[in-house]
Amino acid sequence: MTPSNTDAIAVRDLEKRFGAFVAVDRISFSVQKGEIFGFLGSNGSGKSTTIRMLCGIITPTAGAGRVAGHDLFTEAEEIKQSIGYMSQKFSLYEDLTPYENIRFYLGVYSVPERRWRERSDWVLETTRLTDVRDRATRDLPPGWRQRLALGCALLHQPDILFLDEPTSGVDPVTRRHFWTFIRDLAARGMTVFVTTHYMDEATNCERLVLIDAGRIVAQGSPAAIVAAACPDRPGADLNDAFIRLMARGKAPAERTANLTATPSSPDIETSSPFRPGPPEG
Ligand SMILES: Nc1ncnc2c1ncn2[C@@H]1O[C@H](COP(=O)(O)OP(=O)(O)OP(=O)(O)O)[C@@H](O)[C@H]1O
Ligand SMILES: [Mg+2]
Repeated sequence: MTPSNTDAIAVRDLEKRFGAFVAVDRISFSVQKGEIFGFLGSNGSGKSTTIRMLCGIITPTAGAGRVAGHDLFTEAEEIKQSIGYMSQKFSLYEDLTPYENIRFYLGVYSVPERRWRERSDWVLETTRLTDVRDRATRDLPPGWRQRLALGCALLHQPDILFLDEPTSGVDPVTRRHFWTFIRDLAARGMTVFVTTHYMDEATNCERLVLIDAGRIVAQGSPAAIVAAACPDRPGADLNDAFIRLMARGKAPAERTANLTATPSSPDIETSSPFRPGPPEG
């Protein structure tokens, strides 16, 4: 694989198996420097697993890839210093204050001590948390805690920011502010790799990859993906395209390597996991 020098991320046939289960199934894509890149897929499709490989947290089982110029297999530590990662699960210490969390992550990211004051002030101001810096993090509303987690991921001024469902559980106003901030970071040259289940948010991305059951089912600009997935439906949006593309996916059992029998795919547009019943009274 030969990534171009404008690629922030380039992967080829990247795979992650957990035993016989194929969580990420030979995916290939690249992300340009300064791009806002969206990674979409339904629950369990392999988004977080892919991010954890790209951040150097888990090692792929096959394929090749570079992130911020570093090899996924041999330079995981270098990758960790070049990227910021906001995990899907809240990663801060709830019983520490915002300020203490910031101090902790300054150490984790090996920020030189002479810069601690400047960087912690920047994060507290940017995330508008200066007034609550000494309160327990657990007492802050979810949107505020997400802002703090985002700020901590930016402490060491990484080249690439990975955001795994950063706005889940966040109110619409805060979500809008969040995206204004993300666009601003990208305008200054940061690469942003983001997952979301909100299709309105995904339209903020310049390019998208959609995965289903560990495999890429579409990639391109939001408009190009809609046009390709719904050519028969003028006025279709990314939600329509997403539902149509996911419905083509294979059954979960097919993700097991070396399987002999393969049941037919369920049609997720028609088979609901919810059973209609009488309203509770
Ligand atoms: N450590 C692990 N061991 C075994 N299976 C795993 C492990 N981590 C993830 N998986 C499985 O891999 C699949 C992909 O999980 P992943 O968390 O990447 O999905 P996701 O796209 O992030 O889903 P969601 O939208 O719910 O966050 C799931 O079936 C999950 O159960
Ligand atoms: Mg996930």
